[in-house]
Amino acid sequence: MTLENLILERVEPGILVVKISRPKALNALNTATLVELKEVLREASEDASVRVVVLTGDGEKAFVAGADIAEMQHKTSAEGTAFAGLGHDVTKLLELMPKPTIAAVNGYAFGGGTEMAIACDFILASANAVFAQPEVGLGIIPGFGANVRLAKFVGLARAKEMIFSGRRVKADEAVAIGLANRVFAAEEFMAKVLEVAQQISRHSHSAVACAKQVLNGSSESVGLDAKLAAEARAFGALFGSADQREGMTAFVEKRKASFEGL
Ligand code: COA
Repeated sequence: MTLENLILERVEPGILVVKISRPKALNALNTATLVELKEVLREASEDASVRVVVLTGDGEKAFVAGADIAEMQHKTSAEGTAFAGLGHDVTKLLELMPKPTIAAVNGYAFGGGTEMAIACDFILASANAVFAQPEVGLGIIPGFGANVRLAKFVGLARAKEMIFSGRRVKADEAVAIGLANRVFAAEEFMAKVLEVAQQISRHSHSAVACAKQVLNGSSESVGLDAKLAAEARAFGALFGSADQREGMTAFVEKRKASFEGL
């Protein structure tokens, strides 16, 4: 597959860095990018030479500024549900592949950006990282897993606060509330991320894979598909509503949304 929205780098021993690269939209996730991610992660999952996957964003400003709002703007309910399903395919690969996945969050991680990050095994944040689930400001809800996974990182009440308010969480607070594991200065960020990845990739990869499976099994992965399907249906149900049209049109037109609750 020709990759137009991803840059892949190999770092020894066995680290695959997957860089999301759509500079004109701050690496926002459109369908094409999600399809590429799904294919690359599926291959990485089966490739014995890949021991650790690092997911990051291209450029200095953004990890991922969310799902692509311009593309979502005119989706129908069924298309919204299908789009969430594609996002779920990607997040499930990150969560369940038998090798560690690390989110290296190097700037804005909004909406689908935070959702990609929390599907990884853990998050390392650059000092300029900013997390948010701003979907309700667009007349929708998170659709790539935050309703299911965010509480595992920050607890249910903080997940609710983030999703209901859309407020921004900077790197230091992200560490304080358990969203990110560690924060590193922007200048040395990727070097530090790779040190962590190398520390893991030098160990027995079968032992690490076994640990991941047991740790996942002992948390909330049970019933994952049913929970994600419920999220996809709820996400899709909001498409076509007056608030969804207004929220996304306002973003594209660069103005503040005015909601009527319809
Ligand atoms: N979808 C589509 N395009 C996006 C985008 C998204 N999620 N996020 C940013 N972009 C585009 C902008 O439209 C803009 O394009 P333009 O140059 O053609 O006008 C470009 O990326 C740069 O973004 P801009 O908003 O000008 O940068 P900024 O530094 O002023 O603000 C953000 C950065 C991240 C705060 C802002 O882009 C933003 O709020 N993005 C949307 C975040 C969001 O709601 N995500 C959840 C989606 S479900």
